[in-house]
Amino acid sequence: MNHLNHVAIIMDGNGRWGIKYKKSRNAGHRAGLDTVEKIIKHSIKKKIKYLTLFAFSTENWKRPKSEINYLFKLLEFFISEKIDELNKENIKIKIIGSKNLNKKIFKLLNYAEKKTENNNKIQVNLALNYGSRNEIITSIKKIIKNKIRVNEKNFEKFLFTKNIPDPDILIRTGNKNRLSNFLLWQLSYSEIFFEKKLWPDFNEKDFEIIIKKFKRIKRNFGSI
Ligand code: FPP
Repeated sequence: MNHLNHVAIIMDGNGRWGIKYKKSRNAGHRAGLDTVEKIIKHSIKKKIKYLTLFAFSTENWKRPKSEINYLFKLLEFFISEKIDELNKENIKIKIIGSKNLNKKIFKLLNYAEKKTENNNKIQVNLALNYGSRNEIITSIKKIIKNKIRVNEKNFEKFLFTKNIPDPDILIRTGNKNRLSNFLLWQLSYSEIFFEKKLWPDFNEKDFEIIIKKFKRIKRNFGSI
C-alpha cells in the first residue's frame, strides 16, 4: 500500500457554488474556506505531512477587483483569526508564491510563517500569487546567475517548494480536467484525481475515497 505524505489541491468551483446557492461568487469563496478547515483537520487525522492548497494564482489578478479584494480579506481573516488555533494544533504554515503583495498582507504572511516555523504535525503550503511557469523561469535565472550546473537537484533548490517532497496526489475539484499552471514540475509523478464536486461541497468522505484509491495504485515511477 502506498504511503501518503503530500496532498496538493486545486480548490476549484467556489464561484459556481456561490452563484448557484447564494447568487454571489464571493459567498462561494467564504464557503470554500470552511472546506479548507475541514480538509486540514482530516489531513491531520490521516497523518498526512504536507498539504498544498492553491489559494490564488498569478492569473487570478485578471478577476474583478471586488472578487480579488474579497479573497485577500478572507486570507487576512484566516491568518489573523485562526493563527493561534493553527499554532496550537502544531500546524506549520508556509507560503509558496510571490509575496510581492500589499504591505499589510506581506507582514501578516511573514508573521504566520515565523510563528509556526517550528511546528511539525503538518505543513500547510498556501500557494498564493503562485504560477508554475514563472517559478520555473525564476529558478533557471538563479542557476545562471549563480553559475552552477544545470541539473534537477540544483534546479529544485530555487523552487518555492525547496525541501518539500513532491505531491503524491493532486486533487482538482470543480469538474475541470486541467492543471492551470500549478506545480508543473513537482507533479511529474503524482496521481491525479479530478473530482466533479465543487470545492465547497467537497468533504471528508470524498477525500477518504480518493485516499483509499491512491493507497491501492501501483506506482512505477517509470519502472515496471
Ligand atoms: C477557485 O474557484 C478558487 C479560488 C481562486 C480561490 C480559493 C480560495 C478559497 C478556497 C478560500 C480562501 C482560502 C484560504 C486559504 C484563505 P473559482 O472561483 O475559480 O470557481 P469557479 O470555477 O466556479 O469560478
